[in-house]
Amino acid sequence: MEIQPLGGCGAIVEGLALADARGDDLDALRRELAMHGLLVFRDQALSPDDHLGFARQLGEIVVNKFFPVDGLHPEIAEVRKEKEQKTNIGGGWHADHSYDAEPALGSILVARELPSSGGDTHFANLADAYDALSDGFKQMLGSLRAVHSNHHLYGPQGIYRKTDLADQLGGESEAGEAVHPVVIRHPESGRAVLYVNPGHTIQIEGWSIPESRALLDFLYAHVTESGFTTSLEWAPGSVAIWDNRQTWHLADNDYHGERRLMHRITLAGEALSPASGPTG
Ligand code: SIN
Repeated sequence: MEIQPLGGCGAIVEGLALADARGDDLDALRRELAMHGLLVFRDQALSPDDHLGFARQLGEIVVNKFFPVDGLHPEIAEVRKEKEQKTNIGGGWHADHSYDAEPALGSILVARELPSSGGDTHFANLADAYDALSDGFKQMLGSLRAVHSNHHLYGPQGIYRKTDLADQLGGESEAGEAVHPVVIRHPESGRAVLYVNPGHTIQIEGWSIPESRALLDFLYAHVTESGFTTSLEWAPGSVAIWDNRQTWHLADNDYHGERRLMHRITLAGEALSPASGPTG
């Protein structure tokens, strides 16, 4: 197995067929995922059953409450845009399931049907972005917690309910929110990581909305404009595995008139601890 960092965020892994990964391969993948936050694989032959078998070896699966699922495999979420639809899923920067009390560990995304061009996915590295902040600013962030919600997306009045994706989505009554430290200690790498994201973080706990907006907008600009991002151009056989606790992602919506179908399996995570707390 060979690992080549992509620059900005993540690494490409060569020399491993995911459908056959076992034992030591999985341990190595877990280590590399904790280190890089994003692993990209090319030319994989991974049927939906292989996808499920691989995911089950990596961890427990958590099913997204809102996305449509593959008819034969209810643990596989479909990230699907039909050729007549204008809205895509995940078209803004976000970390999956950060609105849950135990946010997802990560996701395994397999390209099933791609447009002739476009539909790239962008990733951002929140551990490196945190490291680049000044010590004084880090100290201030370390005392904060933030509210993460999905009411504005998937609730009865949510943005997605007013789009041409509405018929695909379920879970209207399942919308909810959770509070997490603004800087978490990554459960595996032990690094301090900035844990807010544009899709789901709605407020800094105890701050007004305008105060929260000002801080969050500063942090978001820092992450996206300072060299902490990578773009993934998909090809048939491409697979991406990302760690939600230390990355964001965003799917381009630039292929109107063509279908794009991705299969996503999301792995269950755990409650997140503040970086300033005990590391043990
Ligand atoms: C997502 O999981 O947010 C979608 C990613 C993609 O479609 O590339």
